[in-house]
Amino acid sequence: MNVLVTAGPTREAIDPVRYLTNRSSGKMGYEIAAAFAREGHAVLLVSGPTALDLPEGVDFLPVESAAEMHDAVSRQIGRMRIAVFAAAVADYRPLRVADGKIKKSKQPLTLELEPTPDILGSARTEFGFRGTLVGFAAETSDLEAQARDKLVRKGCDLVVANDVSQPGIGFDSDVNEVLLVRPDRIEPLPRASKHELARTLVRIMLEIHHEKTNVANPSCTSD
Ligand code: PMT
Repeated sequence: MNVLVTAGPTREAIDPVRYLTNRSSGKMGYEIAAAFAREGHAVLLVSGPTALDLPEGVDFLPVESAAEMHDAVSRQIGRMRIAVFAAAVADYRPLRVADGKIKKSKQPLTLELEPTPDILGSARTEFGFRGTLVGFAAETSDLEAQARDKLVRKGCDLVVANDVSQPGIGFDSDVNEVLLVRPDRIEPLPRASKHELARTLVRIMLEIHHEKTNVANPSCTSD
């Protein structure tokens, strides 16, 4: 089965040498891509810049900015059955990118920011994706309510929510602890290594995909 996974941070250029980014290491998304590949699925990993080795048996599309990730996903998602959005995409980017390096001065510098394209939010609408859609939610408060809001607004089948204010989990850690939010149920998963957690998540995503496919087309037993 064709699976798309986004991972890592994006970089939003300020000038030729500076950019805005975040603390994502890419570990969560890379572990999910590797776990799908180990199960024999054809995985395309669309990733922002990370220091990680490419998982074995995974196709790779490196990108830098949110706009590049949006373009890559829009071109590839049509042939996917499952799409998992683990990337920490910058929500804002500089409105103007300076042609040359911005010179240092004693005056404060104000950067004007504009929203980036919402890639997950485009999946059902702009891209017309009909497969199993999995979003993440990185929150610092109201984890369940925020995740449920993303589930509904973005048409997801599952949102994997992590409380990134908790020490030791989430961004740039080998460990995570997540709350699974689905249209009909909520399930907390215990703290585990991202490697172990990815195996569990992949099993659950495949179950959701098979349930969804069988409901949509009762004569099919698998997809
Ligand atoms: O990479 P690691 O160091 O292993 O850390 C893992 C993680 C914390 C990055 C990961 O578990 C995680 O939570 N990923 C989502 C981070 C995030 O940006 O969450 P969000 O709540 O801001 O975004 C919600 C969803 O929309 C996410 O699926 C995100 O990929 C997607 N999104 C967000 C903004 C945007 N412009 N386009 C998007 O597609």
